[in-house]
Amino acid sequence: MAAEENIQLLQIMGGSVLARAIAAVAEFGVADQIEPGSSRAASELAAATGCHGQALYRCLRYLASHGIFVEDPQGAFGLTPLAAALRTDAPGSFRAGARMFGRMFPAVAELENTLRDGESGFSKAFGEPIFEYLPKQPELAGIFDGGMTAIHGAETPAMLEAFDFSGIGTFADVGGGNGSLLTSVLQKYPAMKGILFDLGHVIERATANLQKAGLSDRCEVREGSFFEAFPEGADAYLMRHIIHDWDDQQSIQILKNCRAVIPPHGRLFIVEAVVPAGNEPSPAKEFDMAMLIYPGGMERTEAEYRSLFAAAGFELVGVTPTASPVSVVEGRPV
Ligand SMILES: C[S@@+](CC[C@H](N)C(=O)[O-])C[C@H]1O[C@@H](n2cnc3c(N)ncnc32)[C@H](O)[C@@H]1O
Repeated sequence: MAAEENIQLLQIMGGSVLARAIAAVAEFGVADQIEPGSSRAASELAAATGCHGQALYRCLRYLASHGIFVEDPQGAFGLTPLAAALRTDAPGSFRAGARMFGRMFPAVAELENTLRDGESGFSKAFGEPIFEYLPKQPELAGIFDGGMTAIHGAETPAMLEAFDFSGIGTFADVGGGNGSLLTSVLQKYPAMKGILFDLGHVIERATANLQKAGLSDRCEVREGSFFEAFPEGADAYLMRHIIHDWDDQQSIQILKNCRAVIPPHGRLFIVEAVVPAGNEPSPAKEFDMAMLIYPGGMERTEAEYRSLFAAAGFELVGVTPTASPVSVVEGRPV
């Protein structure tokens, strides 16, 4: 009967308002203004963050009804675990992730047009592809970096738990972003050397992070585009959340550039969410929509990785799932 289905659909569609509300309070840093274990009136929070008092109150009341913040009988708001994760100083803070989704929301609003022609919503809304736009927008680029750590940070310990990288002399993280994955790998394997490779505008932040982790002597930072050439001199090349950003033709180009420098004993690791068969919900299918909307790439099945590898001169030798959404897809040069 339609009424029930309509109620369900209405609730599902309300998710877009909920997502916007989370992004908005993250943008204003509302959770930062509430000390854990205490609560503050919406009027005080509004004054501290530059928000409109009544609008902020209603938004926080709505969020509290979804388990984000909690309102006490006096009308003051405290943190719940979900609200605490939006504090800037929370371990693995999600604040940058929420801000990233909020800033990039115009891309989601283009989905209908994306369905017409397949072009990413980001390109439509912002006038150019995401990785051409970000270098010109340092503030957004910083938020994007933080967002990647917030969203994918937990994948790193899960990957290190599930996969044994021992025996690798020099390990290159290509498109390594802020260096957090490479930092964890080098910390786990003290004899290993590292190469972090990314675009110029990212390199500065990565260099500072690696320095802070005391890894400057074991890790080189190189600037460049993987569409032009891969950094030479590594025994293993890892790309996490790189191939999923690109279409098949671009992905094959990236892999061919890797093939051009990888030594015969070299190992290729693609770390991505592999799309399972069937109708079950899966993070890979969530990520895949994000790929359609933002970079215009795609998540792939194991069979699709196998044929990408083959087209670039690699053989797929294994897929190792981890306790997180990603698997390690391993290739060797043929
Ligand atoms: C989705 S992020 C993934 C970052 C990181 N690997 C991780 O898993 O958190 C994509 C990364 O690819 C980098 N990138 C994009 N285009 C690139 C190019 N042409 N050459 C090198 N790096 C590039 C971006 O700067 C960004 O750091």
